[in-house]
Amino acid sequence: MKVTIKINGKVQSVEIEPGEMLLETLRRLGYKGVKHACSTASCGACSVQIDGKPVLSCTTFTAAVDGHEVMTIEGFSDENSLSDIQKALIEEGGSQCGFCIPGLVVTSEALLRENPNPTRQEVIDYLKGNLCRCTGYESQTLAILKVAKERQSK
Ligand code: FES
Ligand code: FES
Repeated sequence: MKVTIKINGKVQSVEIEPGEMLLETLRRLGYKGVKHACSTASCGACSVQIDGKPVLSCTTFTAAVDGHEVMTIEGFSDENSLSDIQKALIEEGGSQCGFCIPGLVVTSEALLRENPNPTRQEVIDYLKGNLCRCTGYESQTLAILKVAKERQSK
């Protein structure tokens, strides 16, 4: 079957198998920033945005996204420059192996759009589905709070 999805601003017509998951479709199309980890909605590494909301692509049928807009990490930065969130994560030591970072950034972008000035607890609560096995979360929380403050001052 064929579906039409707007991915990172570009409308694409995609042939998919029945029962195909969005994670699989996106990676096949080259969006390798969408990470394949647990496949059981447990880690957040596969996070993307659908119509602006953070969603786990490993448990989302591609067919359900027909006619919708998907944003992956590739849509929030380009090959030559890091986004402000990515920079802040590096500055605060919030990225070590880096595997969780694409999903974390995609979810954080949704948080800061919904709530541009979150409290520390609101950041922790919103990002609780994005697991990180390296950093202990504190540095990531600090990075998101820093970016929120910087965006507010612009
Ligand atoms: S790979 Fe989707 S939540 Fe872990
Ligand atoms: S930086 Fe390694 S899992 Fe988060």
